[in-house]
Amino acid sequence: MMQKIFNNKQELARYFGEYLLKATQEKPELYIALSGGSTPKVIFELLSKEYDKTIDWTKIRFFWGDERMVAPTNPESNFGMTREYLFDHVKTRAVNIFRVKGELEPQEALNAYTHSVNDNVPLHNGIPQFDIMLLGLGDDGHTASIFPHQIDLWHSRNICELAQHPDSGQVRVSMTGDIINNSKQIFFLVTGENKAEKVDEIINQKGSYKQYPAALVNKNKTEWLLDKEAAHLL
Ligand code: 6PG
Repeated sequence: MMQKIFNNKQELARYFGEYLLKATQEKPELYIALSGGSTPKVIFELLSKEYDKTIDWTKIRFFWGDERMVAPTNPESNFGMTREYLFDHVKTRAVNIFRVKGELEPQEALNAYTHSVNDNVPLHNGIPQFDIMLLGLGDDGHTASIFPHQIDLWHSRNICELAQHPDSGQVRVSMTGDIINNSKQIFFLVTGENKAEKVDEIINQKGSYKQYPAALVNKNKTEWLLDKEAAHLL
C-alpha cells in the first residue's frame, strides 16, 4: 500500500498541489471528488496561496465524496468549507461545481446529487469514474460518510446513499464503495496523532481493521498522504 509521510501539513499539501498541477496540465478537464471535515482546510489554504495562478482551476469539475445535510452557509457544510478555503481564492467556473444540496430534504438531495454525478462524470465499467478521489479517515475508521455501524452501505448498488453519523445522528449523503473504488487515483489525506491507531491497523491489516469502511478502499489505487503524527505507529 502506497504511503507518503510528510514533516507537516504544508509539505503534504504541496505534494498534492504538484500532483494536481501536473494532472491539469495533462488533461483538458479533470473530475475530482473532494473530502470534507477539517483536514482539507490547511491543504486548500495552501493551494489557494501557492497554486492559485499555476493550476488552471477552470478545468476542474468539483464534486464531494460526502456532505452533511445542512445549508451551504452552515459551518458544518463541506461545500461551505471548500468555498471559504479554496473557491473564494482561485478562479473556478461555477458551472463546474456540483455540490450536494444539503438544504433540501435528504431523499431529494440524494436523488439530485446522484443524477448530477451520473449526468456529468464520464463512465468507466458503467460507473462514473473520477480522476481523483480525496478521502479522509475518521478516528473510528470511517471514510466519506460510511461509518462502521453502517458498513453495509459500502456495498450498495447505488453510487450514493443516505448515511447517519453514529453520535450526532446527523444525516449525510455519501458516495459508496463501487464509485469510490472506480476512481483512477485515490488519496487518503490524514493528519494528526488521533488518527495514528487506525492508520496503523488499516495499512498493516491488524486489530479490528475489517470493521473499518476505510479498509475497503482499493489498495492498488490508493496513496496515503500522512503527516508524521498520523504515521507515528507505522
Ligand atoms: C466528513 C468527511 C469525513 C472526514 C473524516 C475526517 O464530511 O466528515 O468527508 O469522511 O474526512 O471524518 O474528518 P477530519 O478531517 O475532520 O478529521
